[in-house]
Amino acid sequence: MEISLRVNGAVRKVDADPATPLLFILRNSLGLKGAKLGCGAEQCGACAVLVDGEPVPTCVRAVSEFAESDIVTVEGLAGDGAASDVQRAFIAGNAAQCGYCTPGIVVATTALLRRRKNPDAGDIRDALDGHLCRCGSHTRVIRAIASLAREGASDGV
Ligand code: FES
Ligand code: FES
Repeated sequence: MEISLRVNGAVRKVDADPATPLLFILRNSLGLKGAKLGCGAEQCGACAVLVDGEPVPTCVRAVSEFAESDIVTVEGLAGDGAASDVQRAFIAGNAAQCGYCTPGIVVATTALLRRRKNPDAGDIRDALDGHLCRCGSHTRVIRAIASLAREGASDGV
């Protein structure tokens, strides 16, 4: 059936089984490859996107649940091709190795900075609690976010 979604500010129509997890629609129907399939069980955060401003895993929940939602993927954080503040901070801080977990962590960081302009180390750890990095980049991720917070980034975009 045809499903209408609002993704990165645009209405996108897809023909899909409404039970398909949102992640597969984003990646396979809409070509948005930023969100990744990791665990497939809402445990690792690799598939997270912003849904109405909050980071949400997309590997299990059906696309039909998101028909009324405002969905923003990591691709949507870059305005006119320019990296967001969070994306720039991660690049500057070399806060990734393979990068598989990075899109999910970037969207979670963006949500954190929108609700708390000056997060402390505990806030950052709490915000990233559901995001596992197999490469062990967490220390550099936390350093990059802390540095961005010190610079007073307003909303991470
Ligand atoms: S792939 Fe969705 S949480 Fe791991
Ligand atoms: S940078 Fe490789 S999984 Fe996190």
